[in-house]
Amino acid sequence: MLSTCVIIPAAGSGSRLGCNEPKAFVRLHGRSLLARSLETTLSSGVASTIVVAAPEEFLFRARDEIAAAMADAECETSITAVAGGLDRIESVQIALKYAADSEIVLVHDAARCLTPPEVFSRVHTAVRSGAEAVVPVLPMIDTVRRALPSESAGAEPTEVLRGDLDRSRLRRVQTPQGFRTATLLRAHAHHRAEAAPATDDAGLVERLGVDVVAVPGHEEALKITYPLDRILGEQLARMRDANAGGPQ
Ligand code: C5P
Repeated sequence: MLSTCVIIPAAGSGSRLGCNEPKAFVRLHGRSLLARSLETTLSSGVASTIVVAAPEEFLFRARDEIAAAMADAECETSITAVAGGLDRIESVQIALKYAADSEIVLVHDAARCLTPPEVFSRVHTAVRSGAEAVVPVLPMIDTVRRALPSESAGAEPTEVLRGDLDRSRLRRVQTPQGFRTATLLRAHAHHRAEAAPATDDAGLVERLGVDVVAVPGHEEALKITYPLDRILGEQLARMRDANAGGPQ
């Protein structure tokens, strides 16, 4: 099997969640987003190595979570924690230095800690079958419009909506995103030179002119970002733990 490194960017602050500790250490039904991300990554069976990008001042805590996850899974997978960067892309860039020996790399946000293992398998299988870049996606539920600043001279800034975006052609993009490692390294090198804004790795690869292949994502792979996501995540985690015979 081709060796695969899973990078888990987990160095975000969690400010939108309104918590007073980094988001990766926020708990859903008693277990942190990082612990849950490690557990699903390990149980998916795709990872030869895992690299976690954690906030520098919380590296010791990340290492504790890693030790606990490895003990629970009784696995041989090597897991490294590194200090993340100023934004997600920089955290991935730092972690990528530890992935260069792997043929395949999957990048999986700790914030999507409830992603079912089968999504990892789908992404991994598609890369192994020859795709250079793969993302799990879901259809767009809402009607979407492009917003432009309004030219009206009121005191409050306003915006007007322009342009029909055909919802049936739009997708919500999730993680894990899978790549040939050489392709992702090339995309990050290109991004460093170009310095255009970016929010995910598949977007960087697309700018190289490489096709990004879509596979089905999962509604439960929601990104824990706002307090409402946390409420939903807590319920999902509780149900999962009950089904797995974990804490009630
Ligand atoms: O910023 P956003 O909420 O999109 O973050 C997505 C993922 O990137 C989260 O898992 C977060 O912990 C991670 N991140 C990171 N380093 C940063 C900022 C975010 O690893 N500096």
